[in-house]
Amino acid sequence: MRRPLIAGNWKMNTDRASAVALATGVARRASEFAQLDLLICPPAVYLIPAAEAIAGSKAALGAQNMYHEANGAFTGELSAAMLLDVGCKYVILGHSERRHILGETDSAVNKKTIAALDAGLIPIVCVGEMLAEREAGKTADVIRRQFEGSLAGLTAEQAGRVVLAYEPVWAIGTGKVATLDQAEEVHAALRSLLAQRYNRQSADSVRILYGGSVKPSNAGELLSQPNIDGALIGGASLKVDDFLGIAAAAK
Ligand code: PGA
Repeated sequence: MRRPLIAGNWKMNTDRASAVALATGVARRASEFAQLDLLICPPAVYLIPAAEAIAGSKAALGAQNMYHEANGAFTGELSAAMLLDVGCKYVILGHSERRHILGETDSAVNKKTIAALDAGLIPIVCVGEMLAEREAGKTADVIRRQFEGSLAGLTAEQAGRVVLAYEPVWAIGTGKVATLDQAEEVHAALRSLLAQRYNRQSADSVRILYGGSVKPSNAGELLSQPNIDGALIGGASLKVDDFLGIAAAAK
């Protein structure tokens, strides 16, 4: 049985005061959701105050990105050890905004994934096709290429510790949600890729989140799909009631 994961990706939003207020609001009600994992991913500069705000609650902390090297002359970057040091348990990797706006490649995502796993962070590795790719019938190819590239070289044991997120790029921040069939089809395809590449046990244990305009009103039906094990939420994670409304739908 896979434990649902409800993850809030705050992206480049909030300021110090609103980040603390949001983290506090989530932490206060986190005990209502004993049967799932709740995760907040604030901007890096607010990880420490957010960690303080959720201390003692069952909400977990994650970062939105990291660099694969352990330390050294990499101006502006953060290592897995630094994220662990401030209380992170998870890190989002290869989000489509990093892939498409900041030029991150599968190979970069792969290095980061391995570094995160080696350090003991749980990577949330994102994949997803762009609208033109879906319209050209290339969704399955794009997902396979990103899956294979991002997870290259992982052992079955390492793959079993990864969380995957399917986020169709055309559904992110647009209000357009994939239909249940579109989402479930890709989730099921990802699970068979896991089974083919690794083994049934890894395939059955890996959580695959859906992301892209998830709201309290559509979360229930998305999360009831057999291969959708949680949600990666952008916009709706910036309001405590919306974020926890989605968590309530996962119960
Ligand atoms: P959205 O973002 O919920 O605002 O569509 C999802 C994501 O990018 O993780």
